[in-house]
Amino acid sequence: MNFAKSFALATLVTGSVFAVGWQVHAETNRVKFPENLDQLVHYTTVRRGNVTEHIMTTPESMEAIKSGLPVPAGTYFVLVDHRDGELYRYFVMEKGEGFGADYDERRRTADWQFQWFWPDKTVNMNENTARCQSCHRSQQDSDYLYTADRIPEFTGTPVE
Ligand code: HEC
Repeated sequence: MNFAKSFALATLVTGSVFAVGWQVHAETNRVKFPENLDQLVHYTTVRRGNVTEHIMTTPESMEAIKSGLPVPAGTYFVLVDHRDGELYRYFVMEKGEGFGADYDERRRTADWQFQWFWPDKTVNMNENTARCQSCHRSQQDSDYLYTADRIPEFTGTPVE
């Protein structure tokens, strides 16, 4: 990488750190990389330009949402993000008993925690997952999920 490019990148990274404001460090948390990815139900695909997102969850949370019940603790949602057809990263939201207690009220998303994993399943330590929570808080009325309303529509082919 040449100097101009690495300088631009450094500015970009520092800029985004300042933009976050209240808590600037990246972190690991209670979210683990899901072991049984192939047992999840891929219920919807979101396409935007060169980005393709395969969104999936456990059969238990599919059933709960279809029955209008809260998503059970111990479940998770995975957004598998591809760029130009290549695996780019995994976004994971995991719900667990007491997970919300790790955060103060301003940041808490009930008992959900969020994490960004690279294709090698390591955590992206440059991300502050408070950003994930801040955006998903707008979905409080649908259990912090953006695409839960697609689950009742799912009949075997990912909803688009
Ligand atoms: C700028 C707002 C925003 C931020 C920041 C954000 N998300 Fe999301 N997230 C969305 C939207 C919108 C969707 C629905 C899919 C789409 O339109 O791309 C979504 C979908 C998801 C889903 C699928 C379940 C659902 O809610 O439909 C997961 C899992 C997820 N995000 C995890 C994360 C993680 C982890 C982070 C942080 C590393 C994060 N998100 C940051 C807006 C955001």
